[in-house]
Amino acid sequence: MEIGSESADRDWWRHAVVYQVYPRSFADSNGDGIGDLPGVTSRVPYLARLGIDAVWLSPFYPSALADGGYDVDDYRDVDPRLGTLADFDDLVGALKAEGIRVVIDIVPNHTSNRHAWFREALASPQGSPARDRYHFRDGRGPDGSTPPADWECGFGGLMWTQVPDGQWYLHIHAAEQPDLNWDNAEVRDDFLTTLRFWADRGVAGFRVDVAHMLAKDLPDDLPSDAQMAQMGPGAHPLFDRDDVHDVYAQWRTVFEAYDPPLTAVAEAWVLPERRGRYASQGGLGQAFNFDLLRANWDAAEFRQIIDRNLRLAATAGSSSTWVLSNHDVVRHATRYGLAQGTPEHPQDGRDWLLAGGPEVVLDRELGIRRARAGVLLLLALPGSTYLYQGEELGLHEVGDIPKEFRQDPTYVRTAGADPGRDGCRVPLPWTRSGTSFGFGTGSAHLPQPPWFGESSVEVEDGVEGSTLELYRRALAVRRELTADTSFEWHASGGSVLHFERPGGWHCVTNLATEPAPLPPGEVMIASVDLAEAGVLPPDATVWILTGP
Ligand code: NOJ
Ligand code: CA
Repeated sequence: MEIGSESADRDWWRHAVVYQVYPRSFADSNGDGIGDLPGVTSRVPYLARLGIDAVWLSPFYPSALADGGYDVDDYRDVDPRLGTLADFDDLVGALKAEGIRVVIDIVPNHTSNRHAWFREALASPQGSPARDRYHFRDGRGPDGSTPPADWECGFGGLMWTQVPDGQWYLHIHAAEQPDLNWDNAEVRDDFLTTLRFWADRGVAGFRVDVAHMLAKDLPDDLPSDAQMAQMGPGAHPLFDRDDVHDVYAQWRTVFEAYDPPLTAVAEAWVLPERRGRYASQGGLGQAFNFDLLRANWDAAEFRQIIDRNLRLAATAGSSSTWVLSNHDVVRHATRYGLAQGTPEHPQDGRDWLLAGGPEVVLDRELGIRRARAGVLLLLALPGSTYLYQGEELGLHEVGDIPKEFRQDPTYVRTAGADPGRDGCRVPLPWTRSGTSFGFGTGSAHLPQPPWFGESSVEVEDGVEGSTLELYRRALAVRRELTADTSFEWHASGGSVLHFERPGGWHCVTNLATEPAPLPPGEVMIASVDLAEAGVLPPDATVWILTGP
C-alpha cells in the first residue's frame, strides 16, 4: 500500500489512528538496553499488521536524557545511541511502504542545557544576543543571590537556576531544560528551518510539546507564585497566552507549502474552551483532548466529555482527538483497575504508585476489561485516536521500579514525592520469556517485572480474544466504516452509552454493574465474550451493525 498524494489526503489526520512509539522503550536492535530506530524499523511488520495510520515518534534527538529526550541537544539530528539520520530515513521509508505516516515530536519551549545555543549563552556576556535566545535575569537582593521569582517548578525545585556569573535563567521544567525566548527572531526562524528539515525527510506532521508555553510576558516586576496562580488564561505570564498563536500562524505557512500540508497536534494543557485556538486551521490544526484520560470510568462524565469535545472540535474546524494513555500518565489498564476517585479528583493512579504499586488494591482483570471496553468506545467516535505503545497488549503500569533504576526527573527532583512516569515507559515485552522479553539481547534500561512476559506479543499473537487481536480487528473494522463524521446518541439507561455512526454502526458501552440489553443487529466486535445473545455484560463495549 502506497500513500497517495491526491488532495483528499490533506484530511488524513482527521480520523487517523496514531500510535505513539517511545523509541527508547520499543525495540533494541543492538543489545545495549536502549530501544533505537533500527529496532522500530524491525517491527514495522507488527505496526502494519496492527492497522494504524501513523506513528508518532517521541523524541529521538541527541540528548542527555535529563527528561527522557525532551531535553534536546540538536533538533536536526538523531541521538547516536538511537541511530543515524540514515536510520531515520530507512524507518520513514519502511513505514511509508506500508501506508503508515510518521509524526515526530518537536520540543520548541525549551532546549537542553547542552544545546549549542545554551552553551554559547553561558559563554557570552550578560545582555548579549546569545543570552537573548533564553530568559536570563538578574537575581533579587543586594547581591542578586535571590532568584528573580519564587516560581515552583512542576518537576520539583524552582523555575530559576543561577549561572556562574550570577544571572539566573528560567526553566519551567528541569534545570537541564532552559526555556527559549520566542520573542527572539532567530529562535523563530530556526524552528521554521527545523520543520522543513524533517518535512523534507518525509515526515507528515508534528506533535508539539507544551504548545501553550512558548509565549511569555516577563515584566521587570515579576508576580509571585501566589499572584500567578490567580491569573487566568491570556493574563498568565507563562501559560496559554494569546500571542503564542502568532508562532503557529507562521508555522502554518510552512505546513501549507507541502502536499499534503503538514499536520500538527498541540500538547496544550489548557481549559477545554481554549483548546480550539490551538486546533484552529490557521494554526496547528489539531489539539490533544486529555479529558477522557483524566475521567473516571463513569458514563455521565464520558458523555459530557464526548459532547463537549465534538462541539469544540467542530467549532475550530478540526477533529477531536481521543486519548487514554501516553508516556506521561499511569497506563489506563492500571487506572481502571484501581478504586475510583471523585469527579473532581479522578483516580490517576498516583497514590497507588506512591504506595509502591501494591497488588492488593489493583484489580488487574477489571482494569484490562475496562481498558478493552474503553478503546472500542474511543475508536467508534468521530475524530482521531492516539494509542500508546503497549496498550494494545493490555499492558499494566510497572508500579514497583527500584529506586536506583528510576530515571524520571519528576521523581529525582522531588526525592520521590512525585512517583514519576517511568512505570509506563518500561520496554515492551515481545516474547513470553528470554532476555528482556524480546526487547533486545541485553537487559532493558528500565527493569521489566516477571509478569511482563504474559502480556507479550508472542503470547497474544493469533490468540482469539487477546487484547492484541481485539485491537487488530477493531482497527480493521473501523477502516471499513468511518465514512463521515455524523454522530447521534441513542436514549439509553443511565450507565449505558449508546451512539450511532453512519451506515448503521452502533457502539454500546455498559459502564453499569448490571448487564444491559443490546439493540438488534449483527455484532461486529465485542470487548468481551457475549455469552448471552442480546445482552451486554458490565464493563464491556460492542459494535453492532443494523445495516444502512
Ligand atoms: C510534555 C512531555 O510529554 C513530557 O514528557 C515532558 O516531560 C514535558 N512536556 C517537557 O518537555
Ligand atoms: Ca539499542
